[in-house]
Amino acid sequence: MTVDMAVEVGELRLRGPVLAASGTFGYGTEVPLLERRALGAVVSKGIFLRPRAGTPPPRIVETPSGMLNAIGLQGPGVEGLIRDYAAQWAQWDFPVLVNINGETAAEYGELAARLDGVPGVAGLEINISCPNVEQGGLYFGNDPRAAAAVTEAVRKRTDLPVWVKLTPMVTDIGVIARACEAAGADALTAINTFVGMSIDLNTRQPRLSFRTGGLSGPAIRPLAVHLAHQAARAVSIPVIGIGGIMGAEDALEFLVAGCAAVQVGTATFVNPNAIAEVHDGIAAYLASHGFASLAELPRYLPRD
Ligand SMILES: Cc1cc2nc3c(=O)[nH]c(=O)nc-3n(C[C@H](O)[C@H](O)[C@H](O)COP(=O)(O)O)c2cc1C
Repeated sequence: MTVDMAVEVGELRLRGPVLAASGTFGYGTEVPLLERRALGAVVSKGIFLRPRAGTPPPRIVETPSGMLNAIGLQGPGVEGLIRDYAAQWAQWDFPVLVNINGETAAEYGELAARLDGVPGVAGLEINISCPNVEQGGLYFGNDPRAAAAVTEAVRKRTDLPVWVKLTPMVTDIGVIARACEAAGADALTAINTFVGMSIDLNTRQPRLSFRTGGLSGPAIRPLAVHLAHQAARAVSIPVIGIGGIMGAEDALEFLVAGCAAVQVGTATFVNPNAIAEVHDGIAAYLASHGFASLAELPRYLPRD
């Protein structure tokens, strides 16, 4: 039985529900090495207006069932991204969204205006949740007014689909989710990493040069499922679930919890074929339970 895996996230129609997460898939140029057919979309590494060197090493530390990273949003800046990657993206048979970052709401708006209409750029994912930068980052994701201001600044400057990526480091994710929806977001991505720390007992110093890092991987999955579910209950726009997905059953938890699609990040570091395996596993589950399409999967989304 062939299962229809297509999904609509706002106006963007994706051939499947499994997307590559920002920062874990570069700019997608390694994709020919993988099984492209299963990719719903790719979200690029986070970009600022200008090039950034990022944080000095060590940038990554392994932790129980996960990892801490503090890359500091290293990247070529928006002009470098357009010059080196967008033309390639325009040739691909799946959409690429650009993860955008700024120190002020106006900078996010500038980025949106610059990327609007660039062939190969299918949408924007606003990162208001990066724990590894000194300016901006988490601040915008913590405060509903700041989150709305950034969303609005972007919405005003582009006709592209606008997704907002939420931070888990909040008291009530529903409040932030609703603020972004009201400010014009087409979809939400939930969630970015949790802030964590690891100490080297030989040096008695933090293992990461940035001192703290973003925790990802299976260690955060139940927290992420809960937060994605809370966000999905709070809004009417689609929510894309993310956090610790290693296999198809993990992704199905997010989908049943109310998400329209999922992103896979850290798993690809362990298994470069993870996205294809998650995609095929979801299709097999749907077929074996008698569903002809992903849309038929019942969602657990009480509204009370
Ligand atoms: C090395 C690394 C770099 C990341 N860079 C970004 C980034 O540039 N922008 C962003 O929004 N999220 C970034 N993230 C967060 C991931 O996209 C994702 O939200 C998080 O890792 C949780 O998903 P996972 O457990 O499947 O990795 C990064 C994560 C990792 C591990």
